[in-house]
Amino acid sequence: MIIYSRNRRLRTSETLRSLVQETVLTTNDFVMPIFVMEGSGKKEAISSMPGIFRRSLDLTILECKELFSLGVKAVNLYMKVSENLKDNTGKEAWNQNGLMQNTIKAIKDAVPEMIIMPDVALDPFSIYGHDGIIKDGKIDNDSTNEALVKMSLSLAEAGADILAPSDMMDGRVLAMREALEENNFTDVGILSYAAKYASSFYGPFRSALDSAPVDNQDIPKDKKTYQMDFHNSREALDEVYKDVAEGADIIMIKPGMPYLDIVSKVRESIDLPIAVYNVSGEYAMLKAAAQNGWLDNDKAIIESLTCIKRAGADMIFTYAAKEAAVLLNN
Ligand code: PBG
Repeated sequence: MIIYSRNRRLRTSETLRSLVQETVLTTNDFVMPIFVMEGSGKKEAISSMPGIFRRSLDLTILECKELFSLGVKAVNLYMKVSENLKDNTGKEAWNQNGLMQNTIKAIKDAVPEMIIMPDVALDPFSIYGHDGIIKDGKIDNDSTNEALVKMSLSLAEAGADILAPSDMMDGRVLAMREALEENNFTDVGILSYAAKYASSFYGPFRSALDSAPVDNQDIPKDKKTYQMDFHNSREALDEVYKDVAEGADIIMIKPGMPYLDIVSKVRESIDLPIAVYNVSGEYAMLKAAAQNGWLDNDKAIIESLTCIKRAGADMIFTYAAKEAAVLLNN
């Protein structure tokens, strides 16, 4: 039998395979989400996310130095603030001396080249655990946008490089862009969570920050009135086009692995950089299987991140960034 075209010819050796490799994962692709808490000398393990910690600011700085030296050059910041700082307006989010603002300043000081991407959303600062202000039992879009603008200006003032709004209110990218322009923060970018789905894969993250929507019959128990319905795909493009028109610099799709069809579709439709969030539940699943000896941890991490890049991601938010950087550097 003569088979003219044999795909296996180009797979015969490691060197030949490397020559025809289409996707190359590097540490340049990573953004590491980090959790910061009050105090000093504190490092608390997050049980549902093995290997991930909440750290006080002093230890966060050490971690940032280590990340940068490994080649991880961007961090996405989340704060765990005490209950007594939370209210319905989320006003701790724009306290110029707040934990987030002080964290940004301290990282800028210690690791000036690190790209700082703070999360912009009210949930870690809300008594209700929602990403918006509650009015008449609903998450109010427009007053939330006003709060997000205050938060954005405060984070820009502290030295943030790129703001990452993860709230899914309508029109917030425009409101933020206008405020940044008017206040001379013309170089502060916006990485917009354009297609963020209401997903059960955020569970471990919410326990890390103690930020889950509270159980109260007067308010929605989930985030489905603002985050997207996971049955939908065309709607993701609509969300993306709107955020691009409103002035976003980078577009986020979230979660990652179960949503790579969306990533690939958006990749074919826009030319802006795309960020994909390999979320807490994806990380927890992989770690749980690896701890049971059911998966090879290192291989599964590199494979999943490479596949996210192959689908069209320019950058990947991942809790495995540090571990993957160590693997890629060796
Ligand atoms: C909230 C926010 C969430 C995540 C990032 N920002 C959770 C949510 O929307 O409830 C999830 C990240 C993860 O699961 O890793 N603004």
